[in-house]
Amino acid sequence: MNSAATMGQVLRAPGGPEALEWIPLETAAPGPSEVLVEHRAIGVNFIDTYFRTGLYPWPSTPLILGSEAAGVVLATGAQVTGFKAGDRIAYTLPLGAYRQRRVVPADRVARLPDSISFEVAASIMLKGLTAQYLITSCFPVKAGDTVLVHAAAGGVGLLLGQWLKLKGATAIGTAGSAEKANVALANGYSQVIDYRSEDFVARVREITAGKGCEVVYDSVGRDTWRGSLSCLKRRGMFVSFGQSSGVIPDFKLTDLQLGGSLFATRPTLVDYIAEREDLRSRTADLFARLAAGEIRAYVGQTLPLKQAADAHRALEGRRTVGATVLVP
Ligand SMILES: NC(=O)c1ccc[n+]([C@@H]2O[C@H](COP(=O)([O-])OP(=O)(O)OC[C@H]3O[C@@H](n4cnc5c(N)ncnc54)[C@H](OP(=O)(O)O)[C@@H]3O)[C@@H](O)[C@H]2O)c1
Repeated sequence: MNSAATMGQVLRAPGGPEALEWIPLETAAPGPSEVLVEHRAIGVNFIDTYFRTGLYPWPSTPLILGSEAAGVVLATGAQVTGFKAGDRIAYTLPLGAYRQRRVVPADRVARLPDSISFEVAASIMLKGLTAQYLITSCFPVKAGDTVLVHAAAGGVGLLLGQWLKLKGATAIGTAGSAEKANVALANGYSQVIDYRSEDFVARVREITAGKGCEVVYDSVGRDTWRGSLSCLKRRGMFVSFGQSSGVIPDFKLTDLQLGGSLFATRPTLVDYIAEREDLRSRTADLFARLAAGEIRAYVGQTLPLKQAADAHRALEGRRTVGATVLVP
């Protein structure tokens, strides 16, 4: 069973969505500290497109994309104690989830509570842990803070809106259409600006009566970063955590001085879950909020894994709302 060939999406060289190849893949038996997992649902993330295009360097060639998934344990390595065949699990990282079966290090895997479906789990491991670290550790948001989030109707954006509201913060969002704005408004945001038709800086100034925000979470990058700095209060925090519109081209440290002694950080999830205890406690926080119904996953699109290229086209074409999940 362990060496059975199952299917997966492979890249041999960076390229467009068409570079993804649906081919049979051998699955190794789990090493001593690994578990063999049969995937039931796989999350799509914008980072998958950064790796696909070669914007982010490849750890190996050929490359299998995918950084979050949920499924069932089929077999465990000799030294694995916490899991057994049949357990429902989910994980984020390492890369390589766009396949029906794979081996994963056991210390990166979380047992899935019965109340969380595979589809929900595959949509919130990476995105939910990202929302969690961004507002608890990267910049600890307090009740009463005013926060701007770009791409508020996206996978991470909808989770951020709910979690910020839960913390007692005022969440202002931007979104690329009226339909997206309505979804964001139903997910924690008090105001949503259509930044394709409105000047978001002027609107944020108006909404905050000229005061600006304590923090801006900007995952759009090239098209928004300069305006984001202008939305901050004196000594506010610019959190640049992605670049869906392209890489920020010419940021200078003096931009922080001119903006009012601002702070800036460019965080990535890997560094906030590198220690096993960080991963465990952040995952426990996320699962507890989901179980209590305080935060809801929003899966806007579900496609067969075989059609991963279509999922990438929709994500890059700004046609998705919430998370996208692939079913193997
Ligand atoms: N640093 C980290 O730890 C970390 C972890 C997870 C995700 N991220 C980042 O967070 C962001 C959100 O990830 P996600 O997977 O949830 O994606 P997503 O937000 O669901 O999708 C990206 C959204 O960006 C907006 N966008 C604006 N300009 C765009 C353009 N030129 N092309 C494409 N999209 C554009 C679109 O929303 P509108 O149509 O509403 O503008 C689009 O739906 C990404 O930048 C990702 O890299 C970072």
